[in-house]
Amino acid sequence: MSSYKNIAVLTARKAGILLKNKLGQRRKVAYKGAVNLVTEMDLLAEKVIVSIISRHYPNHNILAEEKTTRQRNSPFRWIIDPLDGTTNYAHGYPTFCVSIALEKEGKIILGVVYDPMRDELFLAERKKGARLNGKKIHVSSTSKLSLSLLATGFPYDLRESRVNNFDHFHNFALRVHAVRRAGSAALDLCYVAAGRFDGFWEMKLGPWDLAAGSLMVREAGGKFTDFSGKSLGLDGQRVLASNGKIHREMIEVLKMGRI
Ligand code: IPD
Ligand code: CA
Ligand code: CA
Repeated sequence: MSSYKNIAVLTARKAGILLKNKLGQRRKVAYKGAVNLVTEMDLLAEKVIVSIISRHYPNHNILAEEKTTRQRNSPFRWIIDPLDGTTNYAHGYPTFCVSIALEKEGKIILGVVYDPMRDELFLAERKKGARLNGKKIHVSSTSKLSLSLLATGFPYDLRESRVNNFDHFHNFALRVHAVRRAGSAALDLCYVAAGRFDGFWEMKLGPWDLAAGSLMVREAGGKFTDFSGKSLGLDGQRVLASNGKIHREMIEVLKMGRI
């Protein structure tokens, strides 16, 4: 495991620093949907990550957001978001990260999320806890929804679909201290793990948004489920993560909206 860990950390740092160094420059933006952006830096970061991982583990499977799907006969699969927070990045807004997870036989065993702007490296290993820059992290102890700080995001099809999270946002905003929409789901999950957010919900996420962050939340003592509280894999349709203590109350609020 430790060599997987070292490679994942080294790779996330390398891609993150590359992104940081180019932040604020003029971007070539292409559109995957009306508001779903991809820049040349998403592609470059993915290329860097995939080439390092392929060099070390040529027989492993890979699922990366932008282009790379490699299917070998291996129990291992790397799940990669080379740049989580592309819209922020394209506008020079300094909140984004690199997310790399390793799955073995369908279970996430390692998650690394690197925020190069704050030089924060989140690391989770299955059954070994979660760490931020080497120090153990734990979810918050907030026990009431009304005292919580939450995070969420909105799906890219928000102009076309009525399942766009505005109803849930409204319902939560009236019941908590505040709701943040920072623009990086992987970092949002790490912030739940670190106790900075008490809870997070979002709809229509991809496996690369969740893979590392889900392990982070669980290993930090939190809960990661669907909107009804059922244990969740990498199906990002309805994701609910929290410190565990406010989970039930969050489920009740989600029931009031369109799901
Ligand atoms: C997006 C971010 C955002 C979330 C979107 C994701 P991307 O990932 O995580 O916070 O609201 O749903 O798709 O496109 O920047 O990698
Ligand atoms: Ca993403
Ligand atoms: Ca991305």
